[in-house]
Amino acid sequence: MADIITVRDPHDPRLSDFTGLTDVELRRRREPAEGLFIAEGEKVIRRAARAGYPTRAMLLSEKWLPAMRDVIDASGAPAYVMPPELAEQVTGYHVHRGALASMGRTPLPEPEALLAAARRVVIMEAVNDHTNIGAIFRSAAALGMDGVLLSPSCADPLYRRSVKVSMGAVFSVPYARLTTWPHGLAAVREAGFRVLALTPEESALPLEAAGPHRLPRVALLLGAEGDGLSERAMREADARVRIPMAHGVDSLNVGAAAAVAFYAATRA
Ligand SMILES: C[S@@+](CC[C@H](N)C(=O)[O-])C[C@H]1O[C@@H](n2cnc3c(N)ncnc32)[C@H](O)[C@@H]1O
Repeated sequence: MADIITVRDPHDPRLSDFTGLTDVELRRRREPAEGLFIAEGEKVIRRAARAGYPTRAMLLSEKWLPAMRDVIDASGAPAYVMPPELAEQVTGYHVHRGALASMGRTPLPEPEALLAAARRVVIMEAVNDHTNIGAIFRSAAALGMDGVLLSPSCADPLYRRSVKVSMGAVFSVPYARLTTWPHGLAAVREAGFRVLALTPEESALPLEAAGPHRLPRVALLLGAEGDGLSERAMREADARVRIPMAHGVDSLNVGAAAAVAFYAATRA
């Protein structure tokens, strides 16, 4: 049985994992350094716990206690109970989904280990928008991609916004960070993957013609909003492929491009 503790002081030091959640810069630095991340809402907290992330503490309103009781008890972590208006003073925003959990990070797999167990992976270069990262993980899970590799400058998939947008898919799709860029792509090719660079460039091969679903092992390389893929990264790829655009639109949002490419790569 875990401790359920009613707290009346928003400055109580036991709530420190949950303070200032709206301060993006602060949290971006603090969370990896302190080895924690925040999961929000019943479903996402359950998914994180099922994936083996240890719960450090929970913060929730009384109304959510019955629904969360089994998760709280199984976690063994303290659950701090506060009225929503006081919790808002701690976090800096209204917690619509009723419950927050601070969870401990677990070590990431090595890229080589992830690649050894995968056939279809996505690689992101410098994707630093947390919403896009979350959307890409959600599509990767839903469409059956086996793993995600991140370039060194990609944002943290366990940042609160990514976790939330992914609906917890960041816990189910394994991911790893490449430590050298773009040379780390050579190791992906050496592991037997054909690396396809997704770019809206007119000169690129249409995705359909590249037939990613026919390849025994395929890695789909995606770039960030704005800059897109760097020339250096594209030079490390085996081919450049494009999703043909209509109505004079020059490109898709990277999350939308990812979903189209994942579907093309995973259909039978
Ligand atoms: C908004 S786009 C970047 C646009 C950037 N100006 C460029 O030319 O690449 C973000 C990423 O989504 C992917 N993407 C967007 N539209 C695409 C398309 N039509 N075909 C292939 N990939 C696309 C690419 O990986 C791209 O780097």
